[in-house]
Amino acid sequence: MTPEEFRDAGHQMIDWIADYRANIDQMPVRAQVRPGEIKNKLPTSPPETPETIDRLLQDLDQIVLPGITQVQHPMHFGWFPSNASLASVLGDIASSGLGTIGISWESCPALTEIEQVVCDWMRQLTGLSEQWEGTIHDTASTACLTALLLAREQASGYSQNAGGLQSMSKPLVVYTTEEAHSSVTKAALLAGFGKRNLRLVNHDITTRAMLPEDLKARIEQDIADDFQPTAVVASVGSTGVTAFDPVAQIAEITSQYKLWLHIDAAMAGNAMLLPECRHLWDGVEAADSISWNPHKWMGTILDCALFYVKDPEHLIRVMSTNPSYLRSSVDQQVTQYRDWGIPLGRRFRALKLWFHLRLDGPEAIRNRLRRDLDNARWFASEVAKSPDWQVVAPVTLQTVCIRHQPDGFQGEALNKHTLAWVDAINQSGEAFMSPAKIDDCWLARVSIGVETSTREHVKKLWDLIQSSAVQTLK
Ligand SMILES: Cc1ncc(COP(=O)(O)O)c(C=O)c1O
Repeated sequence: MTPEEFRDAGHQMIDWIADYRANIDQMPVRAQVRPGEIKNKLPTSPPETPETIDRLLQDLDQIVLPGITQVQHPMHFGWFPSNASLASVLGDIASSGLGTIGISWESCPALTEIEQVVCDWMRQLTGLSEQWEGTIHDTASTACLTALLLAREQASGYSQNAGGLQSMSKPLVVYTTEEAHSSVTKAALLAGFGKRNLRLVNHDITTRAMLPEDLKARIEQDIADDFQPTAVVASVGSTGVTAFDPVAQIAEITSQYKLWLHIDAAMAGNAMLLPECRHLWDGVEAADSISWNPHKWMGTILDCALFYVKDPEHLIRVMSTNPSYLRSSVDQQVTQYRDWGIPLGRRFRALKLWFHLRLDGPEAIRNRLRRDLDNARWFASEVAKSPDWQVVAPVTLQTVCIRHQPDGFQGEALNKHTLAWVDAINQSGEAFMSPAKIDDCWLARVSIGVETSTREHVKKLWDLIQSSAVQTLK
């Protein structure tokens, strides 16, 4: 494709995206296809000769769109807000068009230095002190894995340069709670700690936040049993009910016992753009690493996960490999982001955050987050004052966990009822929310925060919920 052909096709593509976003509320929220349906519509062998952009756009309309659960739809209340602001889409397009490789500072100085600048902007926007330096990973899962590798190497005195974990005399232990995201367990397993050395600390039954006294007791027990306590992963906004582990109290314990403290704030870190929410991670300055995803509620298109550390030297010591073919004359003066994470080649991810911050502006982003918090409070109060309805977890941010419990419904009957009314809404395509199981009891999670979701959409959802719950009783 020549630049001129690209120009023509590109204009059509941008128009297609703009139309798609403008009309998204006309589409069913959940993909209305059966497993295999999309694949069956595609040829089994690749094309030999070029096709036209028109044919491709037609297939986007006819084959791809039905196979998409529309997370940008204003009636999407599932999982978590995964906004892809159009400002950040432009940055992503610029990144693709530039086609940089990001394997070293020299391969694209702008990639490195804009990443440094936007990470610092985000640090300032969330009220973190100057002791933090950041980078952009693909996801919070990668950030957590990186954090646990750093913890492992700190605790083991850089065992990777000798016999690795296999040479350690004591098993290294990681602590989190069962409320933590599954990526924490995955990171602990991939970092070589082993399931037997992952402790699920007790949590408060109402707030679902980690109990620091239980953390301390487990650490002391492990020391007595000849284990080596190594790291704590605290959730600042857990996935299920957006629970907040008490960071300040946990940090006191991790500094007393010299454990690494990683803060997983994947979704809720975005709330820290609002000064009034920052008390939710009080004590964060005492952590060793922090990550969150602007690609969630804030709305910088996926993939964009911020990862901050206080000690980049340690990070580089663990991650650096320095192959000779990447040496350059400025190595001593520049940041080599390949040494700040796992991959060598890196996309120019900073551009989407740069575009987002510059074209939308933090003030508008903050206003939107405040609107969502307000909508969540309104929705929770409507639910709480309705007979047979309960809000089943504290509403700290924009996640509202609810249950419809008519007289006589308990245990399995209640679970069946909850799943039935949630499924009915999801199948209808009118709205989407995700059920979640807590203490063996299903609930419906309403996660508010799509960029285009207004109070009207939340009201419409509440009407749908009430009628679906009543209908499924019949
Ligand atoms: C608290 C928490 N941590 C981690 C993750 C994983 O995020 P990612 O998809 O960026 O790996 C999620 C995803 O929802 C999450 O809610």
